[in-house]
Amino acid sequence: MIAAIIAAAGSGERFGAAIPKALIHCGDRTLIEHALASLSAVVDEIVITAPAGYEEKFRELAGDRATVVTGGQTRSESVRIGLAALPATCEFVLVHDAARALASSDLARRVITSLRSGDVAVIPGLPQIDTVKVVDSDGYVLTTPDRAPLRRVQTPQGFSYELLSRAHATGGDATDDAALVEKLGARVRVIEGEERAIKITTPSDLATALQYLGATNEFSTGVGVDAHAFAEGRELYLAALYWPGEVGVDGHSDGDVATHAICDALFAASNLGDLGSNFGTSRPEYAGASGAQLLQETTRLVNAAGYSISHVSVQIIGNRPKIGARRVEAIAALSHALNGADVALLATTTDGLGLTGEGKGIAAIASALIFKN
Ligand code: CTP
Ligand code: MG
Repeated sequence: MIAAIIAAAGSGERFGAAIPKALIHCGDRTLIEHALASLSAVVDEIVITAPAGYEEKFRELAGDRATVVTGGQTRSESVRIGLAALPATCEFVLVHDAARALASSDLARRVITSLRSGDVAVIPGLPQIDTVKVVDSDGYVLTTPDRAPLRRVQTPQGFSYELLSRAHATGGDATDDAALVEKLGARVRVIEGEERAIKITTPSDLATALQYLGATNEFSTGVGVDAHAFAEGRELYLAALYWPGEVGVDGHSDGDVATHAICDALFAASNLGDLGSNFGTSRPEYAGASGAQLLQETTRLVNAAGYSISHVSVQIIGNRPKIGARRVEAIAALSHALNGADVALLATTTDGLGLTGEGKGIAAIASALIFKN
């Protein structure tokens, strides 16, 4: 039996989204779903290590394709926990990073082929393109290693179950599993890796990954605008946040001009109508819905129409509230409602001109960039 562990318990700190990195969408599905799809085609059993608190979400996405366990503090610890959930009857185990979502089934197959032909540890790697320097703590170069024998290694990494279990029994910590196996003196073979198996670490890596999906050809954009007048006694909701102590705006809804403008930008880009035609009298269940809820539902509709959201930007136009202090929080809330899409949030005043410049209300203008899956 061949099993796989997908390490997905990281928070994705360097990526900077409000949700764990493995739940971010790349094209038509999340990173964890990409990883699952390519591995479930080649292994018999899969264990996913999920971040604490997100186990149910991962179970929903995995269905009957994998068992979900709670990961640990470090990647090595997560893999150890995953390993403990596998039956001892395993012959080989692949360890894969959800962050390398686009690694192909073919790569996993080639790792397995190499294991079957007698290797006990097999890892994909690519030549090192840049010259590498070893530096001291002050940033001065100590040495320049020869680049030719260096490899940038990837996952899935494959091992005999027995060897991987022994390597992890040491309780060691390393950035990949092969490093623990090397410490036992085992021979680790490097096979040809894949460019598309890049580790998605930052939003720009996600953009690169989208290019591998061939998703860059069919982009479309949309613009949306909304404005409401201030109304004493109303509470303010703006950019998917509640603003205590600020005067709210008039209207049937929560009056969140930023989320409403984004919804219209998304509807415009996807040609799905507008806020009124989607959430008006035809959908009474959305009467009184918050801006964040409308944004979530808009995201669902846009995805259901076959689009993914690449980027959204929104500019709030008004004298107050001051956005700066809560910009990061607002971006996180908006991105969350947009399933992890990249969000920019700006604010401006209009030099005293117009409705918002006179302090009578607040407006927002948004643009959305989406692409067809
Ligand atoms: N991982 C894990 N358990 C941890 C830490 C990381 O299972 N305690 C997983 C991540 O989910 C990821 C893989 O190991 O799929 C590689 O880690 P990395 O790319 O560093 O992801 P994160 O740790 O989530 O990102 P960051 O370091 O930026 O926080
Ligand atoms: Mg990490």
